[in-house]
Amino acid sequence: MTEQDFIPKTYPKTLKDGSFTWSSPSNIALIKYWGKKKDQIPKNPSISFTLNHCKTTTTVSFTKKERSNHFSFEVFLSGEKKEDFKPKIEIFFKRVEIYLPFLKDYHFKIETTNTFPHSSGIASSASGMSALALCLMSIEKSIELADNKRDIKMSDEFFIQKASFLARLGSGSACRSLEGDLVVWGKHDKIEISSNLFGVKYPFEVHENFKNYQDTILLVDKGEKQVSSTIGHNLMHKHPFAEARFKQAHKNLSRLITILKDGNLDAFIEVVESEALTLHAMMMTSLPYFILMKPHTLEIINKIWAFRQKTNSKVCFTLDAGANVHILYPENEIKNVLKFINNELVTYCQKGEYINDKIGFGSELINKDS
Ligand code: DP6
Repeated sequence: MTEQDFIPKTYPKTLKDGSFTWSSPSNIALIKYWGKKKDQIPKNPSISFTLNHCKTTTTVSFTKKERSNHFSFEVFLSGEKKEDFKPKIEIFFKRVEIYLPFLKDYHFKIETTNTFPHSSGIASSASGMSALALCLMSIEKSIELADNKRDIKMSDEFFIQKASFLARLGSGSACRSLEGDLVVWGKHDKIEISSNLFGVKYPFEVHENFKNYQDTILLVDKGEKQVSSTIGHNLMHKHPFAEARFKQAHKNLSRLITILKDGNLDAFIEVVESEALTLHAMMMTSLPYFILMKPHTLEIINKIWAFRQKTNSKVCFTLDAGANVHILYPENEIKNVLKFINNELVTYCQKGEYINDKIGFGSELINKDS
């Protein structure tokens, strides 16, 4: 597939109005995406667990209007009009217009809600861009269906690939938020179906040990982060360790393929924690340098290491581009790990808050009206 394959022919018919609602999960990367080329092409492959409870639900209602030179849309978060969300969506519309040429033919009302608090430090861009891309794809599909002269129907495979492709143009990691339960994005030579353009479901065997894998997100810092991911990615351009890091991500993904098959949890811990610390090491060694971890992030990491040594638990941590800590552990350790979190870690969470999540199965179409 190339970008050209996602440019549609013109739609000879149009719809007067309609609406679609999709719900998309967040995801947590095991092998991290950090560094990109032009057009949101990643510098290295990444793989993530799709989450189950942290989700964004988005309804896009559309009404036919006279075609004009600008995009017409309004955005609401939990019923409240959000003018400050518009610039990001405007940029997204500009990027995807060539792939969705109907965008200037309609007025859109975008209504979105998150299952997690907006100010939790949990990024909503992955789940949000994924849900929005899916709604736009549903509109495209319904325009195609409205055209009864053409009998070529959009396949489910194409639908999901193009939705992931569009989500990527909104936010890189969003292209891994459509399907469950492990998704790869970025070309890797051991995964033939992998692509830089969209996420694909991890195609190989996964050991029982990873079934219902748990992720408890400790909310260490619920504020806005000082440096956005986009700026962080850009700092990889002249980064002294960039090439070694990109090579390492390829190697770690090769290693993870074996680990996921064999169920070797000690090796899993080593790869996942090393990836998290490498991500933050890249931030600390950029120019300008920055630190997104907080003292409590480090306290939690040290407590996890001590707990593991004492109890032989297979609990481990990963981080995204912020101070919050994702605690990953097998299903059979739920009781012990939650006890550990409540006894020893909750004190490092802002307002004592954390979110229990686990590996999940991807996006869902909630409602359609067209
Ligand atoms: C650290 O996808 O948020 O979470 O493409 O600029 O929107 P943009 O960046 P974004 O970067 C996420 C980086 C990460 C690692 C990961 O999810 O792989």
